[in-house]
Amino acid sequence: MIHEKLPKIWYGGDYNPEQWDEATMEEDIRMFKLAGIDLATINVFSWAKSQPDENTYQFEWLDRIMDRLSEANISVCLATSTAAHPAWMARKYPDVLRVTFDGRKKKYGSRHNSCPNSPTYRHYSREMAKRLADRYQNHTALVAWHVSNEYNGYCYCDNCEREFRNWLQKRYGTLEKLNTVWYTSFWGHTFYDWEDIVAPSGLSEEQPGNKSYFQTISLDYRRFQSDSLLECYLIEYEELKRVTPQIQITTNLMGTYYGLDYFKWAKHLDIVSWDNYPSIDTPPSHTSMSHDLMRGLKSGQPFMLMEQTPSQQNWQAYNALKRPGVLRLWSYQAVAHGADTLLYFQLRRSIANCEKYHGAVIEHAGHEHTRVFRESAEIGKELQVLSDHILDSRLSSKVGIVYDWENRWAIDLSSGPTKLLDYVNEVHKFYDAAYQLHIQTDMIGVEEDLNSYEVVIAPVMYMVKPGFAERVEQFVQQGGTFITTYFSGIVDEQDMVQVGGYPGELRKVLGIWAEEIDALLPDQFNQVVINDTKGYLQGEYQCSILCDLIHSEGAEVVATYGSDFYAGMPSLTVNSFGKGQAWYVASSCEPRMLQDLLRTVFAEKQITPVLDAPAGVEVTMRSKEDQSFIFVLNHNPEPAAIPLQGEAYVDLLSGETITGVCEIPGRGVWILSK
Ligand code: GLA
Ligand code: ZN
Repeated sequence: MIHEKLPKIWYGGDYNPEQWDEATMEEDIRMFKLAGIDLATINVFSWAKSQPDENTYQFEWLDRIMDRLSEANISVCLATSTAAHPAWMARKYPDVLRVTFDGRKKKYGSRHNSCPNSPTYRHYSREMAKRLADRYQNHTALVAWHVSNEYNGYCYCDNCEREFRNWLQKRYGTLEKLNTVWYTSFWGHTFYDWEDIVAPSGLSEEQPGNKSYFQTISLDYRRFQSDSLLECYLIEYEELKRVTPQIQITTNLMGTYYGLDYFKWAKHLDIVSWDNYPSIDTPPSHTSMSHDLMRGLKSGQPFMLMEQTPSQQNWQAYNALKRPGVLRLWSYQAVAHGADTLLYFQLRRSIANCEKYHGAVIEHAGHEHTRVFRESAEIGKELQVLSDHILDSRLSSKVGIVYDWENRWAIDLSSGPTKLLDYVNEVHKFYDAAYQLHIQTDMIGVEEDLNSYEVVIAPVMYMVKPGFAERVEQFVQQGGTFITTYFSGIVDEQDMVQVGGYPGELRKVLGIWAEEIDALLPDQFNQVVINDTKGYLQGEYQCSILCDLIHSEGAEVVATYGSDFYAGMPSLTVNSFGKGQAWYVASSCEPRMLQDLLRTVFAEKQITPVLDAPAGVEVTMRSKEDQSFIFVLNHNPEPAAIPLQGEAYVDLLSGETITGVCEIPGRGVWILSK
């Protein structure tokens, strides 16, 4: 395990000394020591250096870096360098070059640029992984493998098209089956021969922005491309695992990134790692949701924060600096949500090309007398003091929020009923409502065991996969509370509508059926009017985007619509089912309503916050054995008073005792323990 060698939160980041001379590297190492840095991720983009042509491999330069870091007691997360193919490969084997959505064959350039179904790419990336594993298997610096980098993007080349057909043959067996599940009788799309099937690109079924005329095909293409990149990862994984079974292998993910089904990927990662790049105006709850999602990929196992910037990005429209204290705050936010490793992109800035204005621990000034270095070094020192305290502790939540990539693809691809529906936003609305109430949640996949939760929320569960509805029924039957929304239970996993009334398979547990779905204009609203006060729900709330026109089939009508021709029809219902309850929120509601709804549900379930905290202060708890660590993160620039209800804690970061009503400084962090 990664922490066996050094039982503390690893600290460091991406390091590219192939871009400078050895004297500079010596300076870097001196400064790493000052900053408490003990892990460097190297070799991320060095394929061109290690393999300058087809038959030559040269790793001496990497040996020197590995050896030197090892001497300095800095461990290495060793990347396999296959995220950017060398120029000679593109020149000689054009099959490595992707074809874009609009059918253009790419030339050499940029990065993350290889066709996932290129035989050349697969051959040489396997070879590279094998050589690295053989060469460094016993190197004292090696503590983790970092396969490729941020797998992303789709390819539409002829190889991909051919492999798509093979993938479909495996999935469906016969063309007849495929014609049925793709519903190709629509618009006369019957396929007579496997060769008839082409990649759904801008040249065939799709329009830019994930819009498709044939969602059934497009959905499978997304599954196929995600699987193709996963196969590339697995090719390298196998080579590394065979030689170094004891070393953990990861690849860095990107939170809610659209293109890959990370729940499927995570089954093949020894440890999840991800890159966190919020903007200055990203709501803290959005970042927390992403951390929780990444933790949820492997059912709560701690993850690595593989990248964050110490100061600013270069690729956003406006690359604001992290204000003083924000780096520390956001670093511990990651730890508060399950990170046991804190790494940066990058340790030293490059001096040319697109990342020269990307923040680094060592900035262009080149010395340690900078704000960013001081702030980084402060965290480095604290992590040394924290030692192994937090390591491998877990968050335990009573509330699970369901997130599903295939559901997202299907929603995005959908032509109608509205272009305003953004799955991630809708999930975030519920996440944020719980967050504002200081209730810790898990982000879970559809396969997760629902019974470990008291409340399960599945926003916009448009696609209901086989078995999910039964598991929801069981969960509610046994006393759980289930909450879902408008535009749920519409299609099966093939994006085929379940006829007989929405929400299809979820209809029984919810005790309602939806007859029609109205789409509201961007500045148009309806109202959710609460009939009689129920818990914290009272009065009227605004709703927008979509309004399901539903009928109760036994569910209690808690609220009705306030206007339009469907005024008086139910807009919020709750159904008693077995020992539990199932809520249906028929429209996209304002935050105040979601908070009042969750407050009502949490009160019934006696789900309470770890600590009472004012707005803008985030609280989570990680525990192991009989120890608990309460993270208090003040996202406000001003101090905030935290009532500790007569308890006395020690803040592990400052060593101070915290008791009574204590003020946490603006952007301050406590890790409280007894
Ligand atoms: C990504 C990449 C890094 C770097 C950063 C910059 O996360 O993995 O190589 O380009 O973005 O923010
Ligand atoms: Zn391709």
